[in-house]
Amino acid sequence: MLGKRPLDIAADDVVVVGTGMAGLITALSLAPRRVTLITKTAMLESGSSLWAKGGIAAAVGPGDTPEAHAEDTLSAGAGLSDPERALALTREGADSLRLLIHEGVPFDRALDGTLELAREAAHGRPRIVHAGGDATGRVIMSALIERARRTPSINILRSTFAHDLVVDDGAVRGLLVFEHGKGWSCRHASHVVLATGGIGMAWWHTTNPAESTGDGLAIAARAGAELADLEFMQFHPTALAVDTESGKPNLPLLTEALRGAGALLVDDTGNRFMTSIHPAAELAPRDVVARAIEQKLSSGVSVYLDMRPVVKSGHDGEFPEAVHACRDAGLDPARDLLPIVPAAHYHMGGIHVDDNGHSSLEGLWACGEVANTGVHGANRLASNSLLEAVVYARRVAKGIRSTRTARDEVPLPIQDAPEAPVPGTEQELEAIIAATRRSVSRHVGIVRSGPGLQRALRQLHSLDRRLGRVASGELHDPAGSFDRVLRWSEAHNLLLVARLVASAALDREESRGAHFREDFPHALPEWQRHQSLTMDRLT
Ligand code: SIN
Repeated sequence: MLGKRPLDIAADDVVVVGTGMAGLITALSLAPRRVTLITKTAMLESGSSLWAKGGIAAAVGPGDTPEAHAEDTLSAGAGLSDPERALALTREGADSLRLLIHEGVPFDRALDGTLELAREAAHGRPRIVHAGGDATGRVIMSALIERARRTPSINILRSTFAHDLVVDDGAVRGLLVFEHGKGWSCRHASHVVLATGGIGMAWWHTTNPAESTGDGLAIAARAGAELADLEFMQFHPTALAVDTESGKPNLPLLTEALRGAGALLVDDTGNRFMTSIHPAAELAPRDVVARAIEQKLSSGVSVYLDMRPVVKSGHDGEFPEAVHACRDAGLDPARDLLPIVPAAHYHMGGIHVDDNGHSSLEGLWACGEVANTGVHGANRLASNSLLEAVVYARRVAKGIRSTRTARDEVPLPIQDAPEAPVPGTEQELEAIIAATRRSVSRHVGIVRSGPGLQRALRQLHSLDRRLGRVASGELHDPAGSFDRVLRWSEAHNLLLVARLVASAALDREESRGAHFREDFPHALPEWQRHQSLTMDRLT
């Protein structure tokens, strides 16, 4: 796969891939140490963190404790959350808020100046801290981006795609990237941090942005890193069902906090169906609500979120993003029922990391959604992910600071630029991506079965071969071809990730948390364990 073009080598120390909360906090926490921060997007304002509508869970309210927060985390995790790690995480809640406040995040406060605390499903108490109501992600990210831009030790490379790790003898030596306007180069580094977010784009509907194509997970898989719990994908019950037939995957999220504030779930006869399914009704665990809605939809019944009680009680001002999304879709939340559909939301599985965020490969670190820290188990508790992103980003920075690395004099095991695959036609590439998403949604969705997962694996394998066939030729004009390299690589990554998730889901012959198998509908004691896997599992 090596071409004749000599590869440019840039000498870095630490490279962080991804500019969401986890990536930015890692880079900021390492200052004044030099960090190269890479994002494939043209703007820093991108990625899932920006879209976060929930807040940060932290046990800071009267009578609340990290122990109670950890208990809720464990019970949502359905027997697979690591108790020690969950408690260590929740104990860092208050400190994480302090850090963000220090970075300039204006959290929402009551008139007496105390932090306002909201309640979300499966939390025993109100403990969700927001900033700008359901615009929390946007508000936090704008403070962090501003801070990163003003930090001289952070070298930001935008429109730069992280293609593959350069690994030698089990240790990471750098990262092969494709930069818009410049083409291929290798960032020679002792530490690479993957903070690339999730994999929602593998499904037909997702609350994730278009960037969530599983790049970090695929990069780590190809490098031989250990991955874990890949079968656990959380589906958010209430994405606004607008434009669902267009094939555009990204749907606006109607935050769970709306249900916490009184919004109801009804079917097309006005029946509040969750009351007969779970004692907590609309605030039942997310997987229970998502399955109930999915069942209605698949039997041809439409489901709606009724936001009118929230408007009536005067709380709609706390949900500017939801109101805006409804208005954009021509709906008035004070009058209309809001059509909803569950959508792929958050991946609990990922690159398996230790307490410091270090992976099974020397020099490879991961934090944020791409990492599997063992905290979320089979089902993440709402609003724990931003907390986890802050906590593990800081630990990664600390881990890197305390790792002594000898000056790397050994030549890199890569010297030429790769032959970049050039897709035959854009239409064929998009057709492959659409077929991948269809297959994953159909067979690796909210309700799964052995035969369905086997079918998905066959379909994805053949799509992978089809993708290989449309890729041909050497890239002669690297500077002008960023979009094509990016799209092909995203498709390649998405397919790999889809196959890994389907394979893990086929292996887990039980139902637990977000993973539901209709042929094995109960949790089984012998499956109360993590499932790790490496790329060589795929045939
Ligand atoms: C939501 O606001 O409903 C999503 C929050 C989360 O997934 O943590």
